[in-house]
Amino acid sequence: MTFAIPPATLASFPQDFVWGVATSAYQIEGAAAEDGKGPSIWDDFCRVPGAIADASDGRVACDHYHRLEEDLDLIASLGVDAYRFSVSWPRVQPTGAGAWNEQGVGFYDRLVDGLLARGIQPYLTLNHWDLPSALQAQGGWAARSTVQRFVDYACRMDRRLGDRVRAITTHNEPWVVATLGHETGVFAPGLKDRRSAVQAAHHLLLSHGLALQALRAQGCKAQLGLVLNLSPIGPATDRPDDAAAARLEDGRLVRWYMDPLFKGEYPADVLQHLGADAPQVHEGDLRAIATPMDFLGINYYTRGVVSARGDWDVTTSGHALTDMGWEVYPRGLTELLLRLHRDWQVPPLFVKENGAAFKDTLVGGRVHDAERTDYIARHIAAVGEALRQGVPMAGYMVWSLMDNFEWASGYAKRFGIVHVDYATLARTPKDSALWYREFLRQQRARRATASTEPVEV
Ligand code: FCB
Repeated sequence: MTFAIPPATLASFPQDFVWGVATSAYQIEGAAAEDGKGPSIWDDFCRVPGAIADASDGRVACDHYHRLEEDLDLIASLGVDAYRFSVSWPRVQPTGAGAWNEQGVGFYDRLVDGLLARGIQPYLTLNHWDLPSALQAQGGWAARSTVQRFVDYACRMDRRLGDRVRAITTHNEPWVVATLGHETGVFAPGLKDRRSAVQAAHHLLLSHGLALQALRAQGCKAQLGLVLNLSPIGPATDRPDDAAAARLEDGRLVRWYMDPLFKGEYPADVLQHLGADAPQVHEGDLRAIATPMDFLGINYYTRGVVSARGDWDVTTSGHALTDMGWEVYPRGLTELLLRLHRDWQVPPLFVKENGAAFKDTLVGGRVHDAERTDYIARHIAAVGEALRQGVPMAGYMVWSLMDNFEWASGYAKRFGIVHVDYATLARTPKDSALWYREFLRQQRARRATASTEPVEV
């Protein structure tokens, strides 16, 4: 099986396009209570009976905290330009306020230096969901006081690592934190209250904007931005009620974030729908949220199809489904990127996460994950197509470097291009990792010749 990307599509990737792999702290680090780390809301949530499908937690995860050097070599072996990781806030500041934990900071110091020593650009995310439990006790993201705590944390991290990291992302997927964490309650902190969810979303956006201002004011050298999970949302049928449901869902997932960030306002139709649950917005908040960014990150996995009469049956799509039950729909990524470029004044765009869970089997030291490779190749082609049509794309990162703790799904869902045996913690590159490495090798070769041989697009 080959996974060809059309040559014209390949040629549309600019020389400085950034190729990477991504992870997040809670999903891989383990060492959940070591070296002074404080508890996070995910440590707490994992103890709630029934919250995690396999009743697991992140106490050991991939044990990345203790296997840093090995994992850095693994990342380097792939030939990527960049590695996206997150900092566990309670590891560096156990209660989210006041005292700093030097041992925790030391870990990220070694991570960043280790990446640079191997020629890999560090892409740091400040909040990939593991909020210090002590801040949740004071209301978490639904409380306005958390905004200033986050800005302080961002500034302190910048003072320690900002001279060496290429980019700082404030938040990963505020929609997930707000909606899955506060409205449906399937993720930490497990609340089921729409009003808190909407207020949490506002505070996440506000803390993002204020952090950008504060970081720039102190001379931060890294590129600054935010990562959103976005999908094109369409109606299941051409019935007007399905169209209305799709429009509202697009409002809550896409426009609720894009409009304040790039137009300085919340979408009127969603505000009206929320009624009394609309957020408390102070004078100046929207101006702060619209602080210009250096990049916008997009995480894309699938499209959304919405029906007014309950969930759409994805199995009728005719497309392959991943082990998450998500439809494989690469065209949606091109559509989404074209729309972002058309409807908002966006900075350079990055795909900061894209990948798929499939049922893998490790046989004789190999994992033949052709479906995953196919998924990745087709989505890279979809990014190339957006580039060809003029969208300013700056990079693409595979989710994920290695199998890890997939939140409420526990360890059962494997997204890695590197297999992790949870009994021995051995890492084994899957066929998809070997493919990605070869693809990147060819990209580099193309770059090397491009200066003398212009490529026909
Ligand atoms: C995204 C998360 C990431 C991972 C993937 C599958 O929503 O950012 O941590 O769980 O989904």
